Amino acid sequence: MGTIRRAGHRGTGPGTITPDGCAVELYTRLPAGTEPDVVAAAVPAGAHLLELGCGAGRVTHPLLERGFTVTAVDESREMLDRVRGARTVHSPIEDLDLGTTFDVVMLASFLVHASDAAVRRALLRTCVRHLAATGCVLIQREGEAWHTHVPRERVDPAGFTVRIVSAEPAGDGVNSVTAAYEFPDATWTQTFLSRPLTREQFEGALAEVGLKVDAYLTADRTWVRASLAVQGASVKSPL
Ligand SMILES: C[S@@+](CC[C@H](N)C(=O)[O-])C[C@H]1O[C@@H](n2cnc3c(N)ncnc32)[C@H](O)[C@@H]1O
Repeated sequence: MGTIRRAGHRGTGPGTITPDGCAVELYTRLPAGTEPDVVAAAVPAGAHLLELGCGAGRVTHPLLERGFTVTAVDESREMLDRVRGARTVHSPIEDLDLGTTFDVVMLASFLVHASDAAVRRALLRTCVRHLAATGCVLIQREGEAWHTHVPRERVDPAGFTVRIVSAEPAGDGVNSVTAAYEFPDATWTQTFLSRPLTREQFEGALAEVGLKVDAYLTADRTWVRASLAVQGASVKSPL
């Protein structure tokens, strides 16, 4: 794979596992669900989106079908190889500097819960660095009690079961979470570090980089639209 695994992240199951423990084959199979609808309802029609951590294009492809232009970024070349119809950029999000700005920057998949606060700041600074003055950032955060209501499972109508197997304290307010995805013909697991954030802590993390919440987009408050707290402000960001 040629990329260093992220500490505390690992995965099992068929095929390539990304540095953060995701299985490429799994993300090629998972349905998009309601996520493209949430995004489409929150941003201007036809906007140019910068999607950070796009994976295999699970959400990218439906967004392209809805008429958005997408620049899709991931640190896994094997994930990007599955993306069709978007410009792809192979890079860690933390290091990304495309020298241009976008109407919408997406940081989904709970990446804002990075265990290391410095990494979280770097991810959010990348969002700000690429944000047009009147643009918005869409962030997907964890729901409340996601780390305490464990184990739990959901049977997806597409024919697989997602199980949150455990969430164990790993020190400094971080949990080591293990999820399992069981299909009739294959099972994948992912273990990852996640730092739970209360609403106040989440909004504080946005404020650190000059962002403010415009709206919580879903009833469970997991999807958030944010914008620059001071329009035209820029963040002087060491990478
Ligand atoms: C859980 S998968 C989700 C993929 C996609 N967003 C989706 O919902 O289907 C997370 C993806 O983010 C990528 N990723 C995680 N951390 C990253 C980072 N710091 N820089 C670049 N890519 C990252 C992984 O390689 C993986 O493809």
